Order: sequence, then structure tokens, then C-alpha cells
Amino acid sequence: DISMATALTAEAEQSINNAPTNYTELVQWVREIAELTQPDRIVWADGSQEEYDRLAGELVDAGTFVRLSDHEFPNSYAAFSDPDDVARVEERTFICSQTAEGAGPTNNWRDPAEMKQTMTKLYRGCMRGRTMYVIPFVMGSLDAKDPKYGVEITDSAYVVCSMRIMATIGTDVLEKMSKTNAFFVKALHSVGAPLAEGQEDVPWPCNLEKYIVQFPETREIWSFGSGYGGNALLGKKCYALRIASALAHDEGWMAEHMLVLKVTNPAGKSRYVSAAFPSACGKTNFAMMEPAIDGWKAEMIGDDIAWIRFDENNKARVVNPEAGLFGVAPGTGWPTNPNAMRAIAEGNTIFTNVALTDDGSVWWEGKTDEVPEHLIDWQGNDWTPESGRPAAHPNSRFCTPISQVDMLAEEYYAPEGVPLDAIIFGGRRKTTVPLVSEAKSWEHGVFQGVTLSSETTAAAKGAVGVVRRDPMAMLPFIGYNAGDYFQHWLDLGQKYGAENMPKIYYVNWFRRTADGGFAWPGFGENSRVVKWIFDRLEGTAEGEETFVGTVPGKDDLDVSGLEISDEELKAALNVSAGEWAQELPGIDQWLATFGDKLPPALKDQRDILARSIQQ
Ligand code: PEP
Ligand code: NA
Ligand code: MN
Repeated sequence: DISMATALTAEAEQSINNAPTNYTELVQWVREIAELTQPDRIVWADGSQEEYDRLAGELVDAGTFVRLSDHEFPNSYAAFSDPDDVARVEERTFICSQTAEGAGPTNNWRDPAEMKQTMTKLYRGCMRGRTMYVIPFVMGSLDAKDPKYGVEITDSAYVVCSMRIMATIGTDVLEKMSKTNAFFVKALHSVGAPLAEGQEDVPWPCNLEKYIVQFPETREIWSFGSGYGGNALLGKKCYALRIASALAHDEGWMAEHMLVLKVTNPAGKSRYVSAAFPSACGKTNFAMMEPAIDGWKAEMIGDDIAWIRFDENNKARVVNPEAGLFGVAPGTGWPTNPNAMRAIAEGNTIFTNVALTDDGSVWWEGKTDEVPEHLIDWQGNDWTPESGRPAAHPNSRFCTPISQVDMLAEEYYAPEGVPLDAIIFGGRRKTTVPLVSEAKSWEHGVFQGVTLSSETTAAAKGAVGVVRRDPMAMLPFIGYNAGDYFQHWLDLGQKYGAENMPKIYYVNWFRRTADGGFAWPGFGENSRVVKWIFDRLEGTAEGEETFVGTVPGKDDLDVSGLEISDEELKAALNVSAGEWAQELPGIDQWLATFGDKLPPALKDQRDILARSIQQ
């Protein structure tokens, strides 16, 4: 138990006595964690540029950061992780609700008291020889009506620097939070690598034993053993999705794994859409797309997380609670995503696990069509195109301030966000799922989200081409029982009424023709699908009623100037009872996972689908 406290170092004691806040609950918590973890010193992060530069300098001295040449990415750094600490660890991620049922069938569960006991042992003395940083942060705007505060305690300067990019941190947050004694999420992180007296540090300290733990009822996060993004930057997946989904359930809003896009038509009218895609479906590229059709404009609001709330007129409004992009580098490049590249090229970026070029910059697969003749790969080895292995880790990342995105919509900064007109679900399917369909009702759209599926790609380990269900693309991020989460979606539709809820669409850019080629060209051409969705919202686009919803007929989609054959277009838009009959057993198996937590309205949707297939 935490009360087995040990005295602090004089320096740590002084930092607590001179805390830049008199918010007793916060100061008490910092003391309690310091007594448990025994850091040499404590630093209250102020979020300033000076602090960032100082910590980055220390990380360079420690060998964690390589400062890049300013010619391509000014004021930027490359970090290289331990090879065993390169990604989120879902098998080590736990939802510790009071009961196992609270976590549900899609999460790992442990009893919260047992988990705290286990982790308290791991945390005891785990910051010896290190600095403990206290990072006050807010997800979303500090000027929001109900700012969502957190404080992350961490022993990683890499985390402090990355959190400064990904969230709003520091003095302003601490002052506002302290003034109102506002509730804050306690987010504790340690790399789990104490240093003995005189022991030399490694560039990327971490621990083979990892725990990424959410306590949804008490809104706490305990993370141990990893320094990597989603495991360690606790404002992102742990707070803004897992904890926030539980908060949202209790408070009547939605925390979703969605990009947010502003679309403007040639007449100057704007609409806002969000989209949930499982990984490896081109979410970042969609968030930053260049429309291929004349006169249409796309601007980004978010690339990963959407918080959807309801205003005093019952209308859904959406904000992106993050302040940065933490994007997968491979596949993001000048040829495919120049908007992302221009943002990164503004500098102020932290790269992790990309390759180093001979001129002091970085490269990753897909950055440029031209492949450098020599690199130092992410593991520090010489690399040439003949090496036969990727130079950058497939999950290597860029961490960049969102303010550097030049196609960022100005409404990104609006504290209460923008009205949300449509939600798009999408997956990667060779068959069955048409290019786009409009759900028949909110319940039907929720059913489509719940059964959202995608075929695995080489990007993740495991078999390729296997259909995986990923409800609302939230499978690793739902912070409570998924059946209750589905019910929450349905309840909001009931409460606010279909006329106030966003319309739901389902897209599939990856349908194949009979000869195996892609039926649809994808990328910027996806703007043609967005145009159809936009015009449906305006009431000016036609479609054909099918049992999976309204699908554009071949003349309803703007394909002017697009090289696509009739066969391809037909294949892209095809709704086949035969294919859906083959789909149904997989859907049934998936829905059975939720037992009696499956909302009856979803069973009804399943039965309607089954009946339509037979007809
Ligand atoms: C992450 O791993 O930190 C992360 C942002 O995950 P993803 O790209 O899968 O959303
Ligand atoms: Na910031
Ligand atoms: Mn994500």
C-alpha cells in the first residue's frame, strides 16, 4: 500500500514545498507519488519553449535525441526506442473496473485493488536516480465550458516534450485548474527503470514488464514500463479515449476514435464530418486530403480523436481534444500526403524510430519516391536499398504541432467546436461492402458501426487478409463494457432524435473487381464520395434504396474526368445479397460476443438484414 512512505530527497521535498500551486489535492498527490517512487528531484512543467529546449538538450546529452540538421526539419529531433518498446501493447492494457462485467468482453480486466497492489510494488522506488516531472494538461480548449484537465506525473523528459506537442500543458492550465479546484485525471507514468547510485543511463530506459492501466470509475491512469507514445503520452489514448469514453457515458456525450474534416462546396457552404477507420485504412490521408474535384475544399480539424457533445439546441458538436499529430511515418510522404509533409517540414517535430540520413536529416519508407543510397536505420545499423529490411520501423512516428498544418480549419480553435453533420465508418474490404452507403436510420448506422470490419494488412503482425471486427474503430479504446457503449450510442439517438444526430455513412475504398484490381482509385478521388455525402445532406443527391441503406446509382456519383470503367464503378457500388449471406455468420458470431449486453435494437437490425438477404 502507498502509505509505506519513505522520506524524500531534500531537493524533492523543496520542490513540493515550493509548488507553483496551492491546490492541496494536487500537491498531496504529487507528494504521495514522490514518496512511493523516490525521484531524485521534481520539476513542475511550465510548458514554455525554454523548458522544451532545455529538456531536448538534456535528451541530446543522454543520447535519447539526435538533433537534426535545420535544413529540412528545423528545431527537430529523432529518438530511437528500445526494440521491445515500439508500439501500444494491447495485451498489457487493462480496464480495471470494480467488476469484470464493467470492462466487458473486449478488454483485459483485473480487480482494481489487486492491480494497485501489484503496480504499487513496481512503482516503489522506480524513479530513483531520475527526475519526476509534473505536467498539468488540458484536453480540448482551456476556454471550453467544461475543460477536461489532467496531470501526468512521469519520469521521462521525452514524454514531457511530446506532451507539450500533443496537448495544452503548463502554467496557464495549472492556474485555471487550481483557481477552481477543478477535477483532474491523475495520470501516473514511469518507464520503470530506476538508476542505482552511479549507474549509467541508457538512451531509452524502459522495463520488459509493462502495464497500461485505466481505472474508469476513479478516472485514473497508471502506466508502467513503456516510453512509447500511446503507452506513455497519457492524454491521448488512455485519457482522451479510454477514460473519456467512460466519462462521456456518464455525462451524456461521446469520445470517439475519429478524424474530423471540414468540407466546403463550390458555393461556399461548409459541412463537418468525422470518420472512424480501423488502422491501416488511410485515416491520416483522409484527414488531410486534397479534393480531386474542382471547387471543393477540405480542411482538417482532427486526425485521431473526436469528442462529440450536444449543445443547448440538442445539436451534436465536435472538437478535436488534441494539439498535435502523432502520425505513422511510413506511407506518409510528399507523393501521398503533402499536407502532412508541409506541417512536419515547419519543424518542431519529434521523430521516433525513423532512419537517419547522411546529411543529418531523417527518412522513412514512402517519404520520397527516391530512396537514399545510405542510411542509419532505426536500430543504428548501416542501411542501403539492398539491405532487404525497412530502414524505419513500420510504426515509426512523427509528433508535430497541429498548428503547423496549413490546411487546418480555423474552427479547430473554437472552444465548443463545430456542428457535426455526418459520421463516416470505413473499413478495408475486398468484397461485400459498397463504396458508400447512407444508413437508413440512427439505429441502422449504429449497427454498421458495431459490425465495422476490416481485413488485416501487413502493417500489423499476424495473418494478412483476415476479417477483423473493430466496432467504431474503438476496439482497443472502449473504457468500459462494449455492450453498454453500443447502448450509449443508441440512447443518445433516442434522447436527441434523428434530426439532431449526425447522418451515418459507411465507406469502403478497397473493393475489388472480379479480376482482383481495385474498383475505386481512392486517395483524392475519395472527395467524389464526400461530395455525394455532402449533397445528400443538402438533399440534392439521389441514390438507390438497398438493404444496406442508400447507395449512389452509377449516375449519382460525380465521376467526371475520372478514368473508371463501368465494370469498376459497378463493382464498387454493388450490393449483393449473396455476399451479405456469406457475411452474416461472421456478424452473428461477433454479436454473440456481447451476450445479454447486446442491445435489442442491434439484434433487430441483424434480423432485418437477415430477412432482406433472403428476399
Ligand atoms: C499510438 O500508438 O500512440 C497511436 C496514436 O495509435 P494509433 O496510431 O493506432 O491510433
Ligand atoms: Na502544447
Ligand atoms: Mn488512433
